[in-house]
Amino acid sequence: MTQSYENIVLDKPVAAVQLIRLNRPQAHNALTSALLLELAAALEEIARDDAIAAVVLTGGDKVFAAGADLKEMAALDMVGVLNDERPAIWRRIYQFPKPLIAAVNGFALGGGCELAMHADIIIAGDNAQFGQPEINLGMIPGAGGTQRLIRAVGKSLAMKMVLAGEFINAQEALRAGLVAEVSVPEMTIERAMKLAQSIAQKPALAVKQAKEVLLKAFETDLEAGLQYERKAFTVLAGTEDRNEGINAFLEKRKPKYTGR
Ligand code: HXC
Repeated sequence: MTQSYENIVLDKPVAAVQLIRLNRPQAHNALTSALLLELAAALEEIARDDAIAAVVLTGGDKVFAAGADLKEMAALDMVGVLNDERPAIWRRIYQFPKPLIAAVNGFALGGGCELAMHADIIIAGDNAQFGQPEINLGMIPGAGGTQRLIRAVGKSLAMKMVLAGEFINAQEALRAGLVAEVSVPEMTIERAMKLAQSIAQKPALAVKQAKEVLLKAFETDLEAGLQYERKAFTVLAGTEDRNEGINAFLEKRKPKYTGR
């Protein structure tokens, strides 16, 4: 990494996976614009770095992230919110093209829950709590929480969480499909890293296409989504890795992928 950051920490990459830790423990990783800007910049740098195939994003042991920084939020009136740069930053985070796995221990609240939902996969510690408590502050989620939560967990549970501000625990989140796996908290990051490393071994172009097409399902009707899938499937037929994968299978050997 060429840049240095104050609000996030980037560990040394392991097996083509970059671990990013949110690092504002004094405020339970409350998400300031500065933190989000650093995260967006780091992800953009990683997107350009051929040596990194996937990212794991984590917070603290007891709190993943406590939401938007309420001190910053308090200073914004309606015009301030209208002119807020944050929606554009969130978009940059969402546009990260490589697999992003959130390893969530403890509270993921408000913008913290929304940040976890920007990830492609969530691995939760069994101490995790997910919530959108903005209603208790006279607000509603503002970084995709209403839209992504309802798509992840369905109408009834999303309504309960957003209208009543009730949290769900890791097991409820697992049952609802918000998270992919629940782990003992000490192993959450390790499990997320292992999963990311496993994905990092796969043919990169197919991984990229798969992520893009899966995310399209949130945005399109079935027919358009199927066409999108077929186009991506067809494009991959022109890649060396696809030929290598099929040939290796037929020749009963391990494939050697090059990312081309
Ligand atoms: C700013 C925060 C903060 C936040 C905690 N802190 N959450 N500062 N913004 N969102 C600060 C506290 O003020 C306190 O600072 C320190 O972190 C420790 O917090 P405590 O509350 O004392 O800790 P604890 O009792 O352990 O409770 C942990 C917690 C609680 C359950 C996570 O902090 C909490 O409920 N936080 C707010 C959660 C929330 O409402 N989030 C939604 C925000 S709105 P001092 O200086 O006193 O030590 C939102 C809108 C999204 O996210 C819109 C798009 C981004």
